[in-house]
Amino acid sequence: MSTFKIAIDGPAGAGKSTIAKSAAKELGFVYIDTGAMYRAIGLAAIRAGVDPDKDIQAVEKLLPDIKVDISHSKSGQLVFLNGEDVSTEIRLPDVSVAASDVSRIPAVRSKLLDLQRSIAEKTDVIMDGRDIGTVVLPDAQLKIFLTASVEERAMRRYRELCEKGIECNFDEVKKDMAYRDKNDSERDIAPLKPADDSIIVDTTGKTLEESVDMLLNIMKERREV
Ligand code: DC
Repeated sequence: MSTFKIAIDGPAGAGKSTIAKSAAKELGFVYIDTGAMYRAIGLAAIRAGVDPDKDIQAVEKLLPDIKVDISHSKSGQLVFLNGEDVSTEIRLPDVSVAASDVSRIPAVRSKLLDLQRSIAEKTDVIMDGRDIGTVVLPDAQLKIFLTASVEERAMRRYRELCEKGIECNFDEVKKDMAYRDKNDSERDIAPLKPADDSIIVDTTGKTLEESVDMLLNIMKERREV
């Protein structure tokens, strides 16, 4: 029996992970955060002293020795880099930028593509990222493109980091976000863009509850069709 796949794409801070997590719980689906996989590789580059914006070959050289795994716990998805749980460390602002830089490298993308597709073959999933509807799961039964203004996305991310006790300032967060928006949408391979058959949802000015409700209605309707 084929699995039911929901793809959620959109820029950083649009609320993808929070909304997808709540919806997955409600629907009994597994939630897969693919950004965390790119973050694990970004972290591996930082640890190896490699600048992924400048030295693509050095990142490619690291790849055979990088193993990324995910598992699920009560508190959500865990990400492992060569067996080490890096779920917290990958959220640091420097790792966000490194993740966006490594994600421009074709060898990095193809390494993660297999992992992402193999998970979606086994179980019903809500998978979020940048290229899920366009490249990873083009046959997903429902594709959502979630967006919000850059100002609002930066404010949400800033608050999230403050709540986690991670030191940062709003202007820096906004600058990083604008950098990632440009990087992620202008790269040659699998750029961030809505799939032709996606539903575009703008969450600017909406609370989390309103956004989750809106998405859940769309998902439930589609499952019944
Ligand atoms: O979703 P996130 O902010 O945790 O993702 C981190 C970076 O990884 C993001 O800037 C771009 C990249 N990414 C990607 O290229 N493709 C995906 N499917 C998911 C993330």
